[in-house]
This record gives sequence, C-alpha cells and structure tokens, in this order.
Amino acid sequence: MELEELPGVGPAIAEKLREAGLNTLEAIAVASPAELVATAEIGEATAAKIINAARETADIGGFETGDKILERRQGIGKLTTGSESFNNLLGGGLETQAMTEFYGEFGSGKTQIAHQLAVNVQLPPEKGGLNGSVIMIDTENTFRPERIKGMAEGAELDYEDVLKNIHVARAYNSNHQILLVEKAKEIADGLKDTEKPVRLMIIDSATAHFRSEYVGRGTLADRQQKINIHLHGALKFADLNNAVVMITNQVMVRPDAFFGDPTRAIGGHIVGHNATFRLYLRKSKGEKRIARLVDSPNLPEAEAVFSVLLEGIRG
Ligand code: GTP
Ligand code: MG
Repeated sequence: MELEELPGVGPAIAEKLREAGLNTLEAIAVASPAELVATAEIGEATAAKIINAARETADIGGFETGDKILERRQGIGKLTTGSESFNNLLGGGLETQAMTEFYGEFGSGKTQIAHQLAVNVQLPPEKGGLNGSVIMIDTENTFRPERIKGMAEGAELDYEDVLKNIHVARAYNSNHQILLVEKAKEIADGLKDTEKPVRLMIIDSATAHFRSEYVGRGTLADRQQKINIHLHGALKFADLNNAVVMITNQVMVRPDAFFGDPTRAIGGHIVGHNATFRLYLRKSKGEKRIARLVDSPNLPEAEAVFSVLLEGIRG
C-alpha cells in the first residue's frame, strides 16, 4: 500500500514524509502526531487521523491460538556463546524466539560477544550452532570482519564462508534503525528455504541512537515509545524466524544511587520488559569478564566468568 492511499495524504504530504524517512506504513504507525505535524506541516487532527489509519493497516501484531504457540515453542533452539560457564548460566545457550539483552559499560565485551555469536550460529547443532545466517544492525560502526576471521579460525570454520553469511547494515539514525528491522525481514524471507536461513539478529547498539537523538525530558516519552516499537519489531522477527535476537545496551551512571551498583541500563524498563533474558557484563582482571543473569523467565539469577581471547569467547 502506498502512503498516498492514507486518508489526508496527498502527493505533497507523501513526499515530505518520505523525505523525513517516514516512508512505510510501519514508520508512520509508530510516529508521534507532533512528528508528523512538524515534518508534513499539517494540523494535529490530520496527523492523528493519518497515524490511526497507518496503525490499522500496518501489520503490527495480533492474536493467535495457544496450540500454535506451543507448536512453535517446541522448535526453540539454543546457541552457544563459546564459553561453557556462560552457556550454563543461560541454561545451555541463547534461546531462539527470544530477545537477549547484554548491557554493560564500554569494553565490557558486548561487541565481542556479538561477533562470536555471528560465527557460532553458523555451526551445526552438534557444535552448539543453528546452521544459520546472521543479520547485524551496526549502529556504532564497530563490526570488524578481521575480528570475525580470528573467531572463525578459532571455531575451525573458513572465514570467507562465514563472512558471506553475515548481512551487515550500518544504521545512521534511529528511524533508519527501525526500518532496517523491516528490511531484515525481507532478507530472512529470501533465505528461508536455503541451507542457511537467518537464525540470528544482532542490534549493536539498540539504544545509542535513541539516546543521542532524544535529549531533554520533554522528548523522553517519544523516545521510549520508539524504542518500544523497535524492540517489538525485533521480537517479532525472533518469533517468525525461530531466531535468536541479541541486543546490546550501554549503562549510565546513576548519581543518586547510595547502595549497590551505581549503573543502570539505558532505556530502563522499556528495554527490560521487551528483553526475555537480560545479562549485565562487567570487566574483571585482564581478559576476564563477568556476566550476571539479571532477568529470565525460568532461570535463577547467577554469575559466570568468561574470557575474551584472540580466538574468541572462552572459559
Ligand atoms: P562499547 O561498545 O564501547 O560500549 O563496549 P563493548 O562492551 O562493546 O566492548 P567490546 O566488546 O568492544 O570489548 C572491547 C574489549 O575486548 C577490548 O578492550 C579488549 O579487551 C577485548 N578485545 C577485543 N579484541 C580482542 C582480541 O582480539 N583479543 C583479545 N584478547 N581481546 C580483545
Ligand atoms: Mg560495542
């Protein structure tokens, strides 16, 4: 469906929306009225009407019966981290049909883990993989093929083959990042019946663009709403493709914390409620890192120590 088919949207308004990156029904469905008012120079009432129409038409989820959900859950797979203690913490590895959030300060290993998972997912199930391809949404320009090479060799895989199965997109801003999840669905549909269907989606970092673009208290609600919609899209991707979704998130220092750890994940409750599993990473001595499972539907809160080595995540 074209934007022009929405009530109140003529060619001139459609053009302005497209220029602002609001070029799909999904993007408009998740926009705020104020955003449309500003980009398309229309009144608040028209903006609300357009958004409502887009929401009704865009496919943003619905109901299904329990038997279908059970059938789908029976196919849940587990992806190895490369570290035995880390896998044990997760009850075997990262689950498909779920979203796992890794949060922690700079250098705590989030991007290293993302690279390792992009290699491991290509392994056969007997080696802890899912025989799959990877979608990587890179928002901080930290994807390094050279790093994949080291880890692929560490996993006894041909690095050139491994790189061919990693589909990387650089996200330039938060709207672009949201659209890339839609684009990822197209890639996944195209690979669905091949030898290497997409079984892993990485968003590194899920929150950085949102954090830098939405500054000031006034825009906080808008920001949280957008992050929410974005992560919903990612979670839906996990369900539809029986895929692991791995997102990273930074922490900010909480100056008002008198007890315990003074750090808090960006995006707070919104990210936390969308993630099925949450892991907090911190640095230890040298190459050692500590992972704490802070939220899981069926596993106890616990910690694991792992190492970041040249050949990958181990320990
Ligand atoms: P931000 O994105 O800045 O928030 O950090 P991050 O959590 O993504 O950190 P990242 O995963 O990039 O970790 C970087 C750290 O990994 C470096 O400080 C190194 O300690 C380690 N590291 C990266 N590459 C190698 C490598 O080839 N060998 C070893 N031994 N360690 C590495
Ligand atoms: Mg990083």
